[in-house]
Amino acid sequence: MLHVLSHLGHGQPTRRALRQCVINVRQSSARCSSAVLVLTSKLASNSFKLLLQQRARLLYCFEAQVMSFVEYSEFIQEGDVAIIFLGHDSMFPVKVQSGAQTQTRYGAIRHSTDLIGRRYGSKVTCSKGGWVYVLHPTPELWTLNLPHRTQILYATDIANITMMLELKPGSVVCESGTGSGSLSHAMLRTIAPTGHLYTVEFHQQRAKKATEEFCEHKVGHLVTVLNQDVCKEGFGVTGVADAVFLDIPSPWEAVAHAKSAMKKQGGRVCSFSPCIEQVQRTCAALAEHGFVEICTLEVLLRLYDVRSITLPLPDFGPEDLHQAQPVVPDDAAVTCRTAIAPREMAGHTGYLTFATKSLA
Ligand SMILES: C[S@@+](CC[C@H](N)C(=O)[O-])C[C@H]1O[C@@H](n2cnc3c(N)ncnc32)[C@H](O)[C@@H]1O
Repeated sequence: MLHVLSHLGHGQPTRRALRQCVINVRQSSARCSSAVLVLTSKLASNSFKLLLQQRARLLYCFEAQVMSFVEYSEFIQEGDVAIIFLGHDSMFPVKVQSGAQTQTRYGAIRHSTDLIGRRYGSKVTCSKGGWVYVLHPTPELWTLNLPHRTQILYATDIANITMMLELKPGSVVCESGTGSGSLSHAMLRTIAPTGHLYTVEFHQQRAKKATEEFCEHKVGHLVTVLNQDVCKEGFGVTGVADAVFLDIPSPWEAVAHAKSAMKKQGGRVCSFSPCIEQVQRTCAALAEHGFVEICTLEVLLRLYDVRSITLPLPDFGPEDLHQAQPVVPDDAAVTCRTAIAPREMAGHTGYLTFATKSLA
């Protein structure tokens, strides 16, 4: 079976666009009896799809799944956020728009021809001949590429938080502050498709920008952004949360609100703080409000460098002392690949304090 990709623009396509699409499909599927057309556009009505199916003698015609940060879609479409990958330490997000161009050090990428309708993961040749990969966005890639409006949490802490808060599909989570939305995106993927995130941010522009990004990334239905002070007004919900996460300067002031946002029994809370004095005050507040299993930890990432090293070949002398053996020359060496621990590591980032809401 042959899959033919086409982009018709959104809404109601013109007669000319339809005719061109039929010609393209017939050309591509000339030697194939069962072709399927995958449209990377949202058409206004199903009748257009039927018309296309009949005119181009197709087995089936359907619209490609829309990109979202919680589900994978195969084809790049207008309006998507794609990650342009030039190398492990060089990538950036782009909003895909027909007619737009993105400049890279390898030349321009033309969205209409180089991106729209191509498969995620494709190798795209830029105008100067160099190439890039176009990747589907994920929370991991977003954390590495998002526009920083605040300090953010990275994968090492996020992985631990997700596990220790016992997050799973369907979990209801409260978070403050939203900041740049790095943690929020990761939590949203874990709790989708039936969970919900209530995220509180008192900085108006940050709350607005986060709301826009959640909608653009097609996770807006999973999250409620509240623009208020969590220490004064709480999370806007009572008795619903399975877990609460705090990344604010004075988490101890939000502990009472965290408790009332949580379900009656059980549930986990986590607070991220860079200073031990903040941890002490938070632990005291947690204990005062009846939380148990209070535990603070720090997660440090140790990355190994893979390198080639050259070692001198040891000379242990001849095996049989009575027989003359060729002696290993002085400059004999062997080169091998090895993994080396870093001499210096990024130091302290922050403490994670976890606790459980007591059953009493
Ligand atoms: C370090 S950032 C959070 C980063 C976020 N965890 C991430 O991964 O992108 C802290 C955020 O908390 C917000 N904030 C601080 N105190 C707050 C409060 N009392 N109520 C609501 N938001 C608060 C700040 O405006 C800031 O955006």
